[in-house]
Amino acid sequence: MYKLLQKILFLLPAEAAHDFTLFSLSILNNLGILSFFKTRYTGEATKVMGIEFPNRVGLAAGLDKNGEYIAALSNLGFGFIEIGTVTPRAQPGNPKPRIFRLTEAKAIINRMGFNNHGVDHLIENVNKVRGAGFKGILGINIGKNLDTTVDCATKDYLIGLRQAYRYADYITVNISSPNTPGLRTLQYGAELNALLAAIKNEQMSLALEYKKYVPVAIKVAPDLNDEEIRGIAESLLSNNMDALIATNTTLSRDAVKGMAYADEAGGLSGEPVREQSTKVIAEFYKHLKDQIPIIGVGGISSAQDAQDKLDAGAVLVQIYTSLIYQGPGLIKQILKAQTAKNDSGVEIA
Ligand SMILES: Cc1cc2nc3c(=O)[nH]c(=O)nc-3n(C[C@H](O)[C@H](O)[C@H](O)COP(=O)(O)O)c2cc1C
Repeated sequence: MYKLLQKILFLLPAEAAHDFTLFSLSILNNLGILSFFKTRYTGEATKVMGIEFPNRVGLAAGLDKNGEYIAALSNLGFGFIEIGTVTPRAQPGNPKPRIFRLTEAKAIINRMGFNNHGVDHLIENVNKVRGAGFKGILGINIGKNLDTTVDCATKDYLIGLRQAYRYADYITVNISSPNTPGLRTLQYGAELNALLAAIKNEQMSLALEYKKYVPVAIKVAPDLNDEEIRGIAESLLSNNMDALIATNTTLSRDAVKGMAYADEAGGLSGEPVREQSTKVIAEFYKHLKDQIPIIGVGGISSAQDAQDKLDAGAVLVQIYTSLIYQGPGLIKQILKAQTAKNDSGVEIA
């Protein structure tokens, strides 16, 4: 059924199709129809960062930037939902068009630029959905405003952390979007250390204030060499970070050269980023071992892809782009394979 729907959706510009899909999902959810589609496959429950995740498959950041569709998305079967990236103040993002489908590569290039209504608006939405009985695991992904200079980025991350702290199960510090100039420089050396130290410090005082420890994950790019990965891993370890999310979109166009839209500026996601993202996870795992859990994301489009990320060292996975190409049936496919593996001890992809 999704194949037919996809054909219709792909007639629309990519962002309009995104918006229409989310709007329709929330209507179906309000009518109680989505719960009929909920899979009976529960997947594998697991405890990560001290949190009980009902299954290992989450929604990656960027689809629900303002926390408007949490209940509907959760009813598709995800074990956790990451909302955002949200910035301290609302901002429009880049001019449209800013999402492009590279259909033959099952990929997307986006240069959204953190379009969002601001952290306070997102928190209102979280409060509403919690008030209505939502009990799922929620990550809130925070970033900096475009007009905050990179030198002052820490200030924005601390605002996001403070505002989101009480309402999130975990918080993701996004330093890897390619669409906010200079943001990725925060992934390296003294800048990274200073940012992580400030975040840790604030997290500890918030934990005391609210008598609740909310873990912090750091989200990185796939465009990192082994030396850079070693540097980031050391920084994560020395600043006692709670998790790593690997990876965001790539700037590389190697896998899509010559295709329509391949030269558009922005981050490439979907199948072309899969291998690189898995490599980055495996390299991080060499340094982090089981001291800091890894959430694997990038190009997962089958149960086997999810298993490959877990085999590389991830303990949870997230998906985004393949939802657009395959629809929510993919979540069921992955959970079914994991349930079968649990039941039999044998891996079924
Ligand atoms: C349209 C679009 C918007 C995105 N926005 C964000 C974002 O706001 N914050 C973020 O951390 N990642 C964002 N991402 C990256 C995804 O969360 C994910 O890390 C990346 O797309 C790789 O996974 P995938 O291949 O399954 O899509 C975005 C991705 C896409 C396609």
